[in-house]
Amino acid sequence: MTRAKILGLGSYVPDRVVKNEEIPYLDHHHVRQKEKQTETSDEWIRSRTGIEERRYVPNDGKWRTSDLALRAAEAAIADAGLEPKDIDCIILGTLSPDIHFPGTAVFLQSKLGIDGEEGCACYDIRQQCSGFIYGLEMADAFVKAGKFERVLVVGSELHSHSLDYSTRGRDVMVLFGDGAGAVVVGKDPSPTEKSGILYTHTQADGSGAWHLYLKCFDIGKIPMVYYDGNDPEQNRDMYPTMDGKRVYLHAVRNMVAATKRALEKTGLTWDDIDWFVPHQANLRINEAVTQYAQIPPEKVLNSIMWYGNTTAATVPLTIDHWRKAGKVKKGDRVLSTVFGSGFTWGAGIFEV
Ligand code: UT7
Repeated sequence: MTRAKILGLGSYVPDRVVKNEEIPYLDHHHVRQKEKQTETSDEWIRSRTGIEERRYVPNDGKWRTSDLALRAAEAAIADAGLEPKDIDCIILGTLSPDIHFPGTAVFLQSKLGIDGEEGCACYDIRQQCSGFIYGLEMADAFVKAGKFERVLVVGSELHSHSLDYSTRGRDVMVLFGDGAGAVVVGKDPSPTEKSGILYTHTQADGSGAWHLYLKCFDIGKIPMVYYDGNDPEQNRDMYPTMDGKRVYLHAVRNMVAATKRALEKTGLTWDDIDWFVPHQANLRINEAVTQYAQIPPEKVLNSIMWYGNTTAATVPLTIDHWRKAGKVKKGDRVLSTVFGSGFTWGAGIFEV
């Protein structure tokens, strides 16, 4: 049977480093002001989340999510020893699309220079923080079924333009950063029973939908956009809303269950896994998952300290970060678990 594997990996983060100390002074264009704009502190952010800094794109109006995606995709394609024209399907996960429609994957396709009448299939998927594992599962199935040969899976987020930089939005605003990660999935040229992508599993629970959401518009209303973005009294719908404690509890519970299930279903143990890469929403969540799922702490890779939560990008970004640092080697086996808005969650075991 055909098996799929990750042929290449890449990531991208913008140059601007925004440290926790700077956060209270940012205005709504994330420009640093002399006066405090938001009641928050390095101590609060660091102790509750583990985040020390994150990256933001320049606010010069020239950046969209597809631009971050492009850089990560180019790196992944080069890492696979391929060229953009070799890609026959793009799956892009984001909660910060360039515009409402069309999806961001087609903008990425154009930026990669592979649009036109022979252009490849393009999917946008909407699983927020779980987007990477959902995309990987789709790519794995496509390749195994013989439908596509080389699938580009990208998680890309531009959060810094859609955060509420005021005390009202501080619980969410301090968490997020901009970034992108990508992999190319293709046929495993020398498959064995446990090579390449060994396992993926995804789930959702729609009863959690209103615990973490961003409206921006409501199609049930006419007009579907009914706020004045410049009026703080009525512009809440432009920003994410989260019941943090509830999301936290569900995240820990489902990431633990998904991790245990991945090992049960594959018959693997931690001796067979090189690295555990959880979604990067909160270091405390990952510490709790590590404890409850009895994961060897030395196998856990985090990157939230430097990038914050980059949603669909966190998993490939974290793996690539640690590969560049020399820790992760080509062919290492990763167990990853994710959880996010929806609620959606899942897990995967794969070689990188
Ligand atoms: O990506 C997947 C989805 N996201 C997540 O998985 C995130 C899950 N949730 C969390 O990570 C945590 O719930 C947060 C980090 C968001 C919040 O931490 P918490 O310990 O649950 O804090 P809290 O919401 O219970 O707030 C505690 C206090 C409140 O003040 P009072 O009512 O006790 O006076 C908040 O108003 O902290 C206040 N607070 C802040 N203070 C300073 C909330 N955000 C901030 C802030 N700076 N940024």
